[in-house]
Amino acid sequence: MAYAPFDLTGKVALITGGNRGIGLGMAEALAASNAHVAIWGRKEAANAEAVDKLKGLGTGEVRAWAVDVAEEDTVVAAMAETNGWMGRLDSVIANAGVGFGAKSFSEMTTEIWRKNMAVNLDGAFWTLREATKHMVERAKNGDPGGSLVGIASMAALEGAARNQAYGATKGGLISMIRAISVEHARYGIRANAILPGWIATDMTSGAQDNDKFVSNVISRVPMKRWGEPADFGGMAVYLTSDASSFHTGDSILIDGGYCIY
Ligand SMILES: NC(=O)c1ccc[n+]([C@@H]2O[C@H](COP(=O)([O-])OP(=O)(O)OC[C@H]3O[C@@H](n4cnc5c(N)ncnc54)[C@H](OP(=O)(O)O)[C@@H]3O)[C@@H](O)[C@H]2O)c1
Repeated sequence: MAYAPFDLTGKVALITGGNRGIGLGMAEALAASNAHVAIWGRKEAANAEAVDKLKGLGTGEVRAWAVDVAEEDTVVAAMAETNGWMGRLDSVIANAGVGFGAKSFSEMTTEIWRKNMAVNLDGAFWTLREATKHMVERAKNGDPGGSLVGIASMAALEGAARNQAYGATKGGLISMIRAISVEHARYGIRANAILPGWIATDMTSGAQDNDKFVSNVISRVPMKRWGEPADFGGMAVYLTSDASSFHTGDSILIDGGYCIY
């Protein structure tokens, strides 16, 4: 039989923040690989639009839930419902994120700090914690496995001036993922972080419109371009598939080579 681990027929994937940007790029690849795809996002209209785009890409079902990951009770209820949809979740990608910076570190308000923490760290914590409950229970019932992914950022590594709060959430997420991976390996559950570089999405629209930024920064990306949401599809499929069954605790940079240049 041909080696075909990237046909995800029967697998169920959840992507938070899956209605646009990097999350939608991953959702599209997962749907096209025949996975059942669940997405979470706050905006009903954006969710519905994304479901329309995803439907028909593959043979799996697609469904969206309106979820604010910064609300613990909402995440707890939504994860139970999403897991109940197909009776399992094979892959949960904590991607929902926000990026609030300040004019300078000394002027960074507590409000900015908390806004970053609420979504990027609290939200990822509740999402991943609730996901492990279902995956561990399933493993104890004789069906081990599962893939957890945290979408961090190269901002965790690069010294992101004026974005200390954002960078701290992403550094924290990497640490959380590494600790989850060690604790859950016995259940066959893997946990990995993906660190995007400069990616053309709504989050970076201001930078994309800033000619000085583009000429000073994007010119230093060895690949000489912005990353695109579709650049994350392959890694989402790989990490959801059984091809990555021994791959855990990793921090995977997808930055066109920016961090090593
Ligand atoms: N773009 C980059 O250059 C870059 C670089 C490094 C890391 N990242 C990370 O990659 C991830 C995706 O970023 P992106 O660039 O694709 O951003 P984006 O285009 O702004 O999309 C953000 C997504 O997150 C959802 N979201 C935001 N707050 C939420 C909340 N409280 N609850 C639920 N969903 C929420 C949004 O949907 P709703 O608005 O409908 O809620 C949307 O689907 C983020 O974690 C970001 O930090 C991005």
